[in-house]
Amino acid sequence: MKPVNVGLLGLGTVGGGTVNVLSRNANEITRRAGRPIHIVKASARDLSRPRICDTTGIEVTSDPFAVVNDPNIDVIVELIGGNELALELVKKAIANGKHVVTANKALIALNGNELFALAQEKGVMVAFEAAVAGGIPIIKAIREGLAGNRIEWLAGIINGTSNFILTEMRDKGREFAAVLKEAQTLGYAEADPKFDVEGIDAAHKLTILASIAFGIPLQFDRIYTEGISRVRREDVSYAEQLGYRIKHLGIARRTSAGIELRVHPTLIPYRRLIANVDGVMNAVLVKSDAVGPTLYYGAGAGADPTASAVVADLVDVVRTLTTDPENRVPHLAFQPAAISDIPILPMAEVETAYYLRMEAADKPGVLADVTRIFGDQDISIEAILQKEPPVENVGTVSVIMLSQVVKEKRMNEALKRIERLDSIKGKVIRIRRENLG
Ligand code: NDP
Ligand code: HSE
Repeated sequence: MKPVNVGLLGLGTVGGGTVNVLSRNANEITRRAGRPIHIVKASARDLSRPRICDTTGIEVTSDPFAVVNDPNIDVIVELIGGNELALELVKKAIANGKHVVTANKALIALNGNELFALAQEKGVMVAFEAAVAGGIPIIKAIREGLAGNRIEWLAGIINGTSNFILTEMRDKGREFAAVLKEAQTLGYAEADPKFDVEGIDAAHKLTILASIAFGIPLQFDRIYTEGISRVRREDVSYAEQLGYRIKHLGIARRTSAGIELRVHPTLIPYRRLIANVDGVMNAVLVKSDAVGPTLYYGAGAGADPTASAVVADLVDVVRTLTTDPENRVPHLAFQPAAISDIPILPMAEVETAYYLRMEAADKPGVLADVTRIFGDQDISIEAILQKEPPVENVGTVSVIMLSQVVKEKRMNEALKRIERLDSIKGKVIRIRRENLG
């Protein structure tokens, strides 16, 4: 059997993991793919850096273009990251008629529409299972397993670093910065960890999920994005007392007015399975019309889990090398001509429930003022909790409220008016709340 020759761009966490998994499971992988898969050439920036994998038998170069321009190579695996050099390399690989496998969600979310069109013209595949939720085969599940369904909504914990930080803060009372540092050491975080904690990485992934779920173009710039950097330990604790967990979710929902696309910290009832997904684990809950809810769970980052998805894509590519390009699974699940531009709802039009925390003067009449403002905006309050503040804030109380579902613009107006009250100190903390029932 003639081996399939692979060129690897990047020998870091995922690149190293990919070399290891391909070598460790070579026999099983060949039996599945029908041909051996060999990494013949790889590139890295600093050739003197120690690697997590054995590169014996692989020609290692510091010139990634020497890999994509090598005529002996059939498939390029891009594991550099970012969307500048990586974009140039992937375009070159496609132009050279090579199939591409990538774990790069930024590249797909920002440039996927163009790359898939180029790949279609050249009759090659761009596979990206590892770009969303690490080792979970969520792209395959939505694109193929749920192909008979009309997907109504999906909600996912799709950033392992953020989930790891929130879990450690809740379970061990650890500080944000220390946990982030550990996530970086473990290889979970992006090259710029702001992408993790500010929700950008999750927004890249949600862009991809929404596109394959609803058959819409990739449109990263339409996603409302909020990260976990403003979540405080006291909110995690008050949420627990009210029966909720705070998770960083990406949510895509089809409504009669348009599609909601949003990434933000979210209170979820603790009895939901997804509320119990901890550490670096990811999960995606998909609600479809025929099968109902399905939940996909697994490691969201790390060398071997991500390599599992990269290698699965490689096997897919090898299996379909001889098929007619027209008969392959479409990149975005729907036939390219059937992708439709359904409107995306502005955040102000989204309907959700809220957790609110405000610091209020400890005197009569304050709650009456606040509830009057909510009443004026037709916002119903479901629960109120009043807590003593820390000693340094003597004379104030922390008031925690759960609102019912309301349009975001009405909540914005109510909070603006509440923050103008003399008896309310500073900004009202607002975390959205979803039932996911
Ligand atoms: P790393 O930083 O660990 O590895 C990046 C690799 O690319 C390194 O080998 C580096 O070389 C090489 N590289 C970086 N810049 C250049 C450059 N300018 N020229 C040539 N080579 C370069 O990243 P990861 O493995 O963590 O991530 C790779 C991709 O996978 C990213 O798109 C990331 O978002 C994605 N991903 C990562 C996951 C994870 O758990 N880490 C999970 C899912 C997806 P050198 O080693 O010499 O510096
Ligand atoms: N930085 C990403 C995360 C890697 O923490 O989820 C996996 O995509």
